[in-house]
Amino acid sequence: MSVLIRGGRVVTAADEYIADIFVEGERIALIGASLDLEADRVIDAAGKYVLPGAVDPHTHLAMPWRGETTIDDYESGQTAAAFGGTTTHVDFCIQGKGQSFAEALEIWHGKREGKAVIDNGFHIAITDLATDERLAELERLPEEHGVTSYKLFMAYKDSLMVDDETLFKAMQAAAKSGALVMVHAENGDAIEVLMAEAIAAGNTSPRYHALTRPPELEGEATNRAIQLAHVAGAPLYVVHVSCAESAEPIALARERGWNIWGETCTQYFFIDQSFLDKPDFEGAKYVYTPPPRPKANQDVLWNAVRTNVLQAISTDHCAYLFKGQKDAGVDDFRQIPNGGPGLENRLQMIHHFGVRDGRISLNRMVELLCTNPAKLFGLYPRKGTLAVGSDADVVVFDPEKRVTISAATHHSKADYNLFEGTEVVGSPELVLLRGSVIVDGDQLLAKPGSGQFVQRARFGEQLV
Ligand code: URP
Ligand code: ZN
Ligand code: ZN
Repeated sequence: MSVLIRGGRVVTAADEYIADIFVEGERIALIGASLDLEADRVIDAAGKYVLPGAVDPHTHLAMPWRGETTIDDYESGQTAAAFGGTTTHVDFCIQGKGQSFAEALEIWHGKREGKAVIDNGFHIAITDLATDERLAELERLPEEHGVTSYKLFMAYKDSLMVDDETLFKAMQAAAKSGALVMVHAENGDAIEVLMAEAIAAGNTSPRYHALTRPPELEGEATNRAIQLAHVAGAPLYVVHVSCAESAEPIALARERGWNIWGETCTQYFFIDQSFLDKPDFEGAKYVYTPPPRPKANQDVLWNAVRTNVLQAISTDHCAYLFKGQKDAGVDDFRQIPNGGPGLENRLQMIHHFGVRDGRISLNRMVELLCTNPAKLFGLYPRKGTLAVGSDADVVVFDPEKRVTISAATHHSKADYNLFEGTEVVGSPELVLLRGSVIVDGDQLLAKPGSGQFVQRARFGEQLV
């Protein structure tokens, strides 16, 4: 099967030019002006952007946690991703306490089997490194499973949190194995104290989710993780940076030339702390962690992604139903499942409010949403760019298409959308995964099970 994508504005992290892209089988075979070639399918992309399929490095599909399971499984979550122009994501495989990593990975592979419509890899989320056997297994993950990133939670004391000893040992293992360490950076011990005090004082509503997780506690944990990673000699990627207190230590470490990278997520640019005060418990829709921050942080984050203090924008898609899941916390904010949906709208939102509004260039958008996540997580140049030999993961993006974002039309199973009613200009029109059209307008053409698991290269083979 061959495809000729004709006359589009090809945009990569480095270039922007009008060209044709010829796809043979699953790969890009040729890029050039006015290619004189026959193809099984010709796609007219005149007036459209031709972008690399976007890469989301941070998602939680079908994740059981604190008695609830995230509402999007691999089929619905990846369908939402595909409509949003994301063709690859890296999901978190969570190790249960006492469980081997191989067992955890087997369970997570089972979740995607027969369902996947786009490609994905796994990060391993470490909760238990108590034995030497487990530590040794961790070091073998890149070689044996193509899993080249380790995630540790410095918060969620009731479930996922690890102590500094575990964090540091994982960093030492990563320094040996060539993996990238990721941290959820918040001081879980202090948060636990503040949450108990809030409840004891009768402060049970969603706004106390933010008030018991102040930005300073994100800043403290970010700095602690940076210093520990430096001593261990491990590269570090800080997930979901939400505030100045966390961006600042990352900026300082990078100025020193340390191997520190970071991401923020779409929602932190648009949703601020006041959303938690919405009436009728609607604030619970915005209970994710770190919490929405005071509005001034939004400019800080735009500056951070513009100036390369942060290198990626993810979604942290972790969807729960408002009615039927989030309402478990109606009398106690601690029981509201933490997380929100977002896989489908990242490209639309960042294109409209980032590129169209003049905050970042089109090339930088591609870098933040496609190229850097692919480089950091061992997928580049197979994914994350448009180049001869790369997987033909391509988004034909209509920069003038008007869309009103809504739960009524999105593809996630979530019963609300974080950006409900937002009008954006610019949206994917056609999406290809490894040479096959998987989305055409409002039609999903991918068959469940056609998405592939991607073994990822070790960190450092392609530095950002
Ligand atoms: O609220 C969030 N972010 N839920 C997902 C787990 C995490 O911390 O990434
Ligand atoms: Zn987190
Ligand atoms: Zn997350």
